[in-house]
Amino acid sequence: MIFGALDEHSIAWKIAEKAAAQGAKLTLTNAPVAMRFGEIYKLGEQLGAEVIPADATEVGEMEDLFAKSMEIFGGKKIDFVLHSIGMSLNVRKKKEYTDLNYEWMMKSLDVSAISFHKMMQVLYKMDAMSDWGSIVGLSYIAAQRTFPDYSEMAEAKALLESFARSFGYHFGVRNKVRVNTISQSPTVTTAGSGVKGFAEFFSYADKMSPLGNASAETCADYCISLFSDLTRMVTMQNLFHDGGFSNMGMSPAILDWNPGAAKAE
Ligand code: NAI
Repeated sequence: MIFGALDEHSIAWKIAEKAAAQGAKLTLTNAPVAMRFGEIYKLGEQLGAEVIPADATEVGEMEDLFAKSMEIFGGKKIDFVLHSIGMSLNVRKKKEYTDLNYEWMMKSLDVSAISFHKMMQVLYKMDAMSDWGSIVGLSYIAAQRTFPDYSEMAEAKALLESFARSFGYHFGVRNKVRVNTISQSPTVTTAGSGVKGFAEFFSYADKMSPLGNASAETCADYCISLFSDLTRMVTMQNLFHDGGFSNMGMSPAILDWNPGAAKAE
């Protein structure tokens, strides 16, 4: 079950393609408003996967979503779920971090983080996950370090990562289900590019990382390893998938860097 494929740039899109290539039977979901663009139906057709619209902040819609999904899987439980959802109203509306609108912040936290808890709580109550299944959410290093333009999404990601640990305990004890987050490099997507100064941000991380930025495709590879039986004992972790960025202090590559050229790159 894959949440969050909006268009071919979406990280979830690449993950769905790789999962299908490994033989997974999938269902795809996104918010009803995202269906308007129609791109996800193309992916569904390409992968032979049914598309089920659901707003991840609405518990009732999630219940219907997982019930329908299990029906499509012939009554079988779900082996893996990807949460690849993020949206900040304050970022979108260009509000400064020192002048945030709190109603918008509540919405941002609900969509980007609390939806992860809601998703897991519905799966848990419905007993919809297979034993030794795997749940993955996508995060960003702004949960640990300060990236001023990332704004309230930093708090959303900190909350998301905490939910992975806390729910990971309950799902682990009852069903041996793993819950992890992947902390991904900046990636050119609709959500990513919405962050102010994204081009500079992207180039800076690329220069700082010994391996360069991790692409959406390599994120998909990593994610498949977490869905697979080869990582059965990995749970409650925030796993950096960032070409080494998170452990760098200073890189000589930055000294020769011209940030002004980043936009043109
Ligand atoms: P994207 O814009 O392709 O995906 C975000 C998805 O969230 C979209 O499909 C959107 O329709 C969905 N969404 C928004 N509100 C929703 C709702 N109420 N219910 C259900 N779905 C909803 O962008 P991207 O970059 O693929 O984002 C996926 C995840 O990766 C997000 O959690 C993002 O924060 C995370 N991430 C992205 C990075 C980047 O630089 N692009 C870096 C690190 C993490």
